[in-house]
Amino acid sequence: MGRRIIIDTDPGQDDALAILLALAAEPGVEVAGITTVAGNVGVAQTTINALRVCQLAGRDDVAVHAGCAAPLMRPLHTAEFICGADGLAGMALPAPRRAANPGHAVSFLVDTIMTSAETVTLCALGPLTNIAMALRMEPAIADRIDRLVIMGGARDLGNITAAAEFNTFVDPHAAAIVFDAGLPITLFPLSATYQAVATPDRLTGFDAKAPIQAQILSMLRRERPGGASLGGADGHPMHDPCVIAWLLWPDLFEGRDCRVDVEVTEGPTVGRTTIDWWGRSGAPANAHVVDRIDADAMFARMAEAVRALDLAQPPTKKAL
Ligand code: BDR
Ligand code: CA
Repeated sequence: MGRRIIIDTDPGQDDALAILLALAAEPGVEVAGITTVAGNVGVAQTTINALRVCQLAGRDDVAVHAGCAAPLMRPLHTAEFICGADGLAGMALPAPRRAANPGHAVSFLVDTIMTSAETVTLCALGPLTNIAMALRMEPAIADRIDRLVIMGGARDLGNITAAAEFNTFVDPHAAAIVFDAGLPITLFPLSATYQAVATPDRLTGFDAKAPIQAQILSMLRRERPGGASLGGADGHPMHDPCVIAWLLWPDLFEGRDCRVDVEVTEGPTVGRTTIDWWGRSGAPANAHVVDRIDADAMFARMAEAVRALDLAQPPTKKAL
């Protein structure tokens, strides 16, 4: 078994692809569980979506625990305008056959991290509410987390406000707690993830006749509400899969260690991450911030990797 991971997530289409990629990569990584949080849609729906995605992969054995329904201090902002009412627009997934596992996500995080024989890698694909709560509930988890890999923040412009990226905007207080916790963090801000746009030429490796890849393609090719994505790129940015791809293929990424601070004061910059790229403050680095992605190679390797999911399906479900 490879690196033991927990995915904290708010699916969300790009979260869905990240989960599928992680499940496809087993046993290179071991998915110890999925914890859900409110973000793209409310937590009841992100939990249903995590269950739907596991079901698509034929993995009803993966533990899914529902987490926090609202940010620590602010009212919840959701993103149905991008994700659709159910959070997974573009995918046609049936309702889950099972319910979430008993026990709150924050308790699951603490218990799993504290009792795991080896250290755990946390993958944070949504607002950081559950992870901040877990750090407050049991600060000792910080020493047992091998690395926390986060999609969040913006080195340049934001995507939900001019200043802020969605995940850090939704729960800036949680993000501030997490960046202050002294954990080894790798951060994928928007300046990195906007390189991972699912342009048509990057989708050629996915097989439209294989059922799971067909769902991925249908999600990636869906019409974008409100026109072109920020920056005008022809396709949807796959922010969250970068986190899993970094674990699998670190050779595709470059970055540097920086100081990251989160703005919690209400106003036009709330949720903004100040990423001290040039080390002007002299403050010690608290994250490795990714800056460059070989996105062509990342999409080619993702397409290759997710084939394993279709191949693992019972014969009736496989492509003809
Ligand atoms: C992040 O916000 C969500 O909408 C996406 O799933 C991703 O985690 C991008 O800003
Ligand atoms: Ca997400």
